[in-house]
Amino acid sequence: MTVLPVQPFDLVIFGGTGDLALRKLLPALFQRYVATQMPPDSRVIGVARDAVSDEDYRARVRPWLEKSADGGEGAGMLDSFLALVGYRRLDAAKDEGWDEFAVSLKGADAERVRVFYLSTAPDLFAPICARLKRNGLTQAGERVVIEKPIGKDLATARAINDAIGDAFPERRIFRIDHYLGKETVQNLVALRFANALFEPVWASSQVDHVQITVAETIGVERRGPYYDTSGALRDMVQNHLLQLLCLVAMEPPAALDADAIRDEKLKVLRALKPITAMNAPQCTVRGQYRAGAVGGQAVPGYQDELGNPATRTETFVAIKAEVANWRWAGVPFYLRTGKRLPERVSEIVVTFRAVPHSIFGDKAGPVAPNKLVMRLQPDEGVTLWLMAKVPGPGGLRLQRVPLDMSFANVFGTRQPEAYERLLMDVVRGDPTLFMRRDEVEAAWQWIDPILSAWKDSVDAPKSYTAGSWGPSAAVALIERDGRTWHEDGA
Ligand code: BG6
Repeated sequence: MTVLPVQPFDLVIFGGTGDLALRKLLPALFQRYVATQMPPDSRVIGVARDAVSDEDYRARVRPWLEKSADGGEGAGMLDSFLALVGYRRLDAAKDEGWDEFAVSLKGADAERVRVFYLSTAPDLFAPICARLKRNGLTQAGERVVIEKPIGKDLATARAINDAIGDAFPERRIFRIDHYLGKETVQNLVALRFANALFEPVWASSQVDHVQITVAETIGVERRGPYYDTSGALRDMVQNHLLQLLCLVAMEPPAALDADAIRDEKLKVLRALKPITAMNAPQCTVRGQYRAGAVGGQAVPGYQDELGNPATRTETFVAIKAEVANWRWAGVPFYLRTGKRLPERVSEIVVTFRAVPHSIFGDKAGPVAPNKLVMRLQPDEGVTLWLMAKVPGPGGLRLQRVPLDMSFANVFGTRQPEAYERLLMDVVRGDPTLFMRRDEVEAAWQWIDPILSAWKDSVDAPKSYTAGSWGPSAAVALIERDGRTWHEDGA
C-alpha cells in the first residue's frame, strides 16, 4: 500500500492513561509507525493526573501494542516505537506544571506540528484549551482534536465550541467522528461519485427507502456512568448515524475538498424534517435491554448492569427520518441502532422501487425490488440484490440473488483502523473527515426536539430481551409502512 509520509510531529494525549488512548490511539500510531508513515523523530506524550514514570507508562502501553502487532512484522519495532513515548503528569484544572510543560514541548522545535488530543471528559475541554492558549501552545502548527460527546444538546455543544474556538481557529479544530475514518464509510463516497451507474437512480423517483443499521452485541461495558447520561440517541444517532445518512443523501460536491463535502452534508442535516412531540410517537422508538443471551452467553439487563432499577436511558433507538428536499422528499430513512443485539453489523441498505409491471405471472414468484447493501462492518463490502431466473426447465421461476463484492477478497489487505487514518489527517492538517462546528450544531438542532419529546413523555423506553433485534415497536415502525427491516440473505 502506498504511504503518504507526514512531517515529524508531537502528539500530546490528554487522558493518556484512559481506555481510548490505550486501546485505540497508541495502537493506531504504532501501526502508522510500522508502515513507516510516522517519522521516527516524532514524539507521543501521554498526559494525566496520575503519578506515573515514563517507564511505567510504557509498560502500561506495551500490552496494547503487542496485541495490535499480533506477532506480525510490527513485533520487532515495538521497542523503537516505545522509545518515542513519554508521560507527563499534569492536572487540566490547575496551572501547576503547565509552563514547564510548554517549555519542554517547544524546546525541540517551536515550529513543529503539535497535536493536542483531548481524550478526556468534555468538561475539561474548555480549561485545557484555555491553558494551552495561556501557555503559548495554540500557534500556527498547533491543533486540537476533540472526541464526542460534544455537548448533550445544542446549548452545551455551542458552549464547548465557543470555548475551543476561543483558543484555536476553526481550521485547526478537529472534531472526531471515528465512523468517518472507517474505510468503508469513505468508500461510500467512491461508490456514489466514481460510478456513473448510481447517480441517475439515486433519488425518490427510483429509491423506495433507505435503512441504516448500526447493531452492537456489547452492552455498556465500563462506560455506564457516561452512557447513562447519554443514551443511544446522543451516543450513536447524533453523530455516527446522521453522518452516514448525510453521505448517502448529500448532493455531489464539486470537489473532494473539506468544505465542499461538509457544505453538502450540512444541507442534508438542515433539510431533515423535524421530529417533535407531535410526531415522535409515530417516528421514534426507544428501547432498553433486559436480561437475555447474546452469542449463547447469558447477559444481565441494563438496569442490573448499572445497578439502577429506575434508569430510563435508552440503549436502542429506531427512527423514521425524512430528508425534505427535492431529491428525497417522501423517501423514508429508517435508522436503527442498539446495544445487546444479536449481531455486530453496520450496514446501509438502499431499496429501489418495484418494477412498474410484472410480465411473469404468479407461478414465477414475486418480483422483489433491487437492493444495494453497503456493509460497513464486519465483512466490508457491497452487495447488489438482483432478480434472476432459477436454473432448470419446468417454467420460469424467479429468485433474488446477490452480486457480492467483499473488499477483503478484492483488495486482500488489512483494513486500517479508523484512528490510523484520522490521526495522520490531523498531522497533515486535512479536516475533510472531521465535523465542522455548524454540522455538529445542525445535528443537535434536529436531535433536541426528539430528546425533549421523550423527556416529556410518560412512556418509558420499551424493554427488549438482550440478543433480540430490539422492541417489537421497532418492527411495527417499519411494517406499518408495508416494509421490513433488511435481513441478511434477502
Ligand atoms: C462510539 C460509541 O462512538 O462508537 C460506543 O460511544 C459504540 O457506544 C462505538 O460502542 C461503536 O463503534 P464501532 O467502531 O465499534 O462500531
